[in-house]
Amino acid sequence: MGVLPISARTISPMKRKVLKDLEDEIISCARCRLAASRQHAVPGEGPEMATVLLIGEAPGREEDRAGRPFVGRAGAILTSLLSIAGLGRDGVYITSVIKCRPPDNRMPKRDEITTCCPYLERQIALIKPQVIVPMGGVATIAVSLVLGVDIKPIGNAHGKAVTATVPWGEVIVLPTYHPAAMTHNPRMREPLERDFAALKVVLGNHLKRDI
Ligand code: URA
Repeated sequence: MGVLPISARTISPMKRKVLKDLEDEIISCARCRLAASRQHAVPGEGPEMATVLLIGEAPGREEDRAGRPFVGRAGAILTSLLSIAGLGRDGVYITSVIKCRPPDNRMPKRDEITTCCPYLERQIALIKPQVIVPMGGVATIAVSLVLGVDIKPIGNAHGKAVTATVPWGEVIVLPTYHPAAMTHNPRMREPLERDFAALKVVLGNHLKRDI
């Protein structure tokens, strides 16, 4: 037995409301300069009881238009990578470190990350996932700071699970390369597929006794 369907975990209406309120707060956020250039903030989406939380870097053009995470090219790649892990998009919560698109998809600036990270911290604390998948270097650094766990740079850390102690128990962190890496470099397909195959192993091995 691997991960149970979401319907098998208890849904709390109160938790749903608190997460929805947080998503609404993000949608109207004006804490940094990115609010001025965005079309839509992208809080993230997925079940509030998700076992697996995936975290990207920042919305791109399509995500900014739609207000939804990973709907562009990187999203199509992510969907196919999730199927390698035996997961569908509907069963996981997907978000990013930065909730608004940086102009021209530039790297998020340090102050944008520190301003936006508390939202991610609150999302993690509310969803209480059992597995967190930071995708790419920015998300991996952000997760290591938020959870206070030592994670090596992404080139070393990808595909390797580490365990972090959190107030609700333990969470497994499995960094992967970012799905968009494949759009720039087709040779990234193989390591990315291996990262998501490692996620399948983590889900099969570690979660049996917990859910
Ligand atoms: N890259 C991300 O990190 N997030 C998205 O939503 C899309 C692309």
